[in-house]
Amino acid sequence: MKKAVFNLLFLTGVLLFCFVKLGNAEENCIMCHQGINPGLVRDWNSSKHSKIDVTCSVCHGTKHTGPHNINLAQLPDEHLCSTCHQKQFDEFVKGKHNFGWISMNALPVSHVEPDELIEGGRGCGGCHNMGIKTEAQRKEQWGKGYRYQNNSCDECHTRHTFSKKEALDPRACQQCHMGFDHPQWEMWSSAKHGSRWFIKDSGNLPEDAQAPKCQDCHLPNGTHENRTAWGFLGVRLPMPDDPQWKADRITILKALGVLNPETGEPTARLEAIKAADMVRLTEESWRAEREKMIKTCSKCHSERYAREQLKMGDSIMQKADRLMAEAIEIVAGLYKDGIIKKPDNYSFAYPDFLYFMQTGGGDMKKLSYIDQVLLQMYIKHRMRTFQAFFHVNPDYAYWYGWEMMVKDLGEIKELAETMRANHSK
Ligand code: HEC
Ligand code: HEC
Ligand code: HEC
Ligand code: HEC
Ligand code: HEC
Ligand code: HEC
Ligand code: HEC
Ligand code: HEC
Repeated sequence: MKKAVFNLLFLTGVLLFCFVKLGNAEENCIMCHQGINPGLVRDWNSSKHSKIDVTCSVCHGTKHTGPHNINLAQLPDEHLCSTCHQKQFDEFVKGKHNFGWISMNALPVSHVEPDELIEGGRGCGGCHNMGIKTEAQRKEQWGKGYRYQNNSCDECHTRHTFSKKEALDPRACQQCHMGFDHPQWEMWSSAKHGSRWFIKDSGNLPEDAQAPKCQDCHLPNGTHENRTAWGFLGVRLPMPDDPQWKADRITILKALGVLNPETGEPTARLEAIKAADMVRLTEESWRAEREKMIKTCSKCHSERYAREQLKMGDSIMQKADRLMAEAIEIVAGLYKDGIIKKPDNYSFAYPDFLYFMQTGGGDMKKLSYIDQVLLQMYIKHRMRTFQAFFHVNPDYAYWYGWEMMVKDLGEIKELAETMRANHSK
């Protein structure tokens, strides 16, 4: 009995609070959604937004009022957040994350894969939702029947808590920076910087012990603008001075489809790559990013130490490019001699890395296996070789990186020999 009275009083209190504190529409949103999605409302309740009246309708509008008009609920994009968080928005716009959707769409492979993996967001599009979509891109997505994924701010500050602490935790980066072609999570967390962070997190290092996490090196001082010197593709302009490295780089750029394999002239694809800021186009822009990083390392290491470490990353890239170019040339030779036929969608009779494993150009009946081994050598093993140097991980640098490139080269040689023998029969 006592408990029931208490409950009644408590409930009246809550209701009274709602009436006084919030307008009618707001009360309705929360009251109704409390019954439908109590977990979601609890998350919002625990956010700073809930304490300062950034309520449901601030972000979703007031047009939807119940189950009969669900589609009238607006799903807010980044511009809505910018009305109160201009600084973070402006920085984000200048950074590399803002190019996620553009760069994904710049790749021919994303146009031959199932929509569920792109617009639906359970594949490429799940990670490449990072970046503000243009009106045309949104229309295309909605046109295909996909309604969500309109906001990239909630990729690090997940809804509806929208927490700063969460975004400062390296685990906020894990979902996307992991796995096949960019295992920064695995490399960092199993190397000294990361293991130290976890040891500290479990209380086994002093409070003041230093342990750099992703954000310390890539989003220092609260900035939302991110970019690295080499980037993902690990190519840049101008070309290297060393003649062998230059030749190897040209071979790689042909396989990326940005140089015409027959003439060596730039193709239209180069413009798309430039538009997505995928490569640093000058020595100065590359060096500016590198020097920022050295400054960050120097908070904890001697500058000389840091420079030597990063320079090693550059020089292993040169050696990896030698292996890579040799492999590309073997496969390119098979195209030249008509042993592999040019897929209809390819621009040239030459390997095309930007179709990923779709080495038939989208035609599943025409997959070329040797091209898949070659692609794996580039996008999985070459990436690991240099990314592991930058993330100070010995095992990834050797066994999962360099050594696997050597194995791929062996396999490509063997396959090419067999293919040639079969062809001449
Ligand atoms: C009378 C109940 C009711 C009220 C009042 C109500 N909603 Fe809803 N809302 C729903 C239902 C039901 C759904 C669909 C939920 C589902 O699919 O599980 C929904 C869905 C939503 C969605 C998701 C839309 C989507 O496409 O998935 C948002 C956002 C939303 N409501 C916000 C609000 C806001 C903001 C208000 C107040 C202005 C509000 N709701 C008021 C019942 C209500
Ligand atoms: C600070 C802005 C903000 C506030 C406040 C907010 N939302 Fe949302 N909400 C979002 C964003 C961003 C999304 C994701 C949109 C997308 O994916 O396109 C979202 C998605 C949703 C969805 C659909 C996705 C899902 O997980 O089911 C529902 C339902 C929803 N909100 C309900 C609510 C309700 C109810 C409230 C109030 C208790 C609320 N929201 C408050 C920003 C907000
Ligand atoms: C109407 C204004 C308004 C809108 C719209 C808004 N916010 Fe906020 N938000 C605030 C204010 C004010 C604070 C500061 C609260 C404080 O520090 O006490 C805040 C705090 C935050 C924080 C820091 C929370 C913390 O843990 O310290 C994050 C992250 C955030 N907002 C993200 C977003 C995102 C993402 C969106 C869009 C989906 C958004 N906000 C929309 C007003 C807004
Ligand atoms: C697990 C999340 C994830 C998936 C799935 C994914 N990507 Fe990525 N992608 C990333 C991340 C993270 C980066 C940046 C990695 C880096 O710089 O090392 C990236 C980089 C890229 C880049 C290079 C961008 C640049 O400017 O250098 C392109 C292009 C790209 N991805 C396209 C795709 C396409 C196309 C697909 C699907 C066929 C795909 N990605 C699948 C997370 C993902
Ligand atoms: C101690 C500093 C440091 C930490 C911690 C760190 N990185 Fe890096 N990261 C680097 C350096 C150095 C580079 C290479 C910069 C260059 O190109 O000169 C790099 C490069 C990258 C790149 C571009 C591709 C590549 O791997 O070369 C991505 C993406 C990235 N880091 C993400 C992450 C993520 C995610 C985490 C956390 C799981 C992380 N980093 C932790 C220093 C760090
Ligand atoms: C890649 C992850 C990431 C994304 C995406 C991201 N943020 Fe953040 N955000 C962070 C980190 C990390 C911090 C903590 C910065 C610090 O204080 O060091 C932060 C802090 C904030 C804060 C709190 C600032 C303060 O000092 O109180 C706001 C507000 C915020 N972000 C808004 C946004 C908005 C708006 C967007 C989308 C345009 C966005 N964030 C996208 C990682 C991210
Ligand atoms: C939702 C997925 C997602 C999350 C979460 C995410 N990223 Fe990214 N990140 C990407 C994608 C996609 C790219 C490549 C953007 C492009 O295509 O241009 C990228 C690029 C980067 C780059 C630039 C690499 C280059 O090309 O120079 C850095 C650095 C980076 N992310 C760091 C972080 C850090 C640190 C966090 C966590 C605080 C984080 N990211 C969280 C998806 C994500
Ligand atoms: C916030 C401080 C901090 C920053 C920033 C930092 N480090 Fe470290 N680093 C450490 C600590 C602490 C260790 C562990 C010391 C040890 O191994 O005895 C370490 C270890 C290392 C090691 C040795 C790992 C091993 O296997 O023995 C290398 C190499 C290294 N860091 C390079 C870098 C580079 C390069 C940067 C910048 C991109 C950087 N660090 C940024 C704190 C930092």
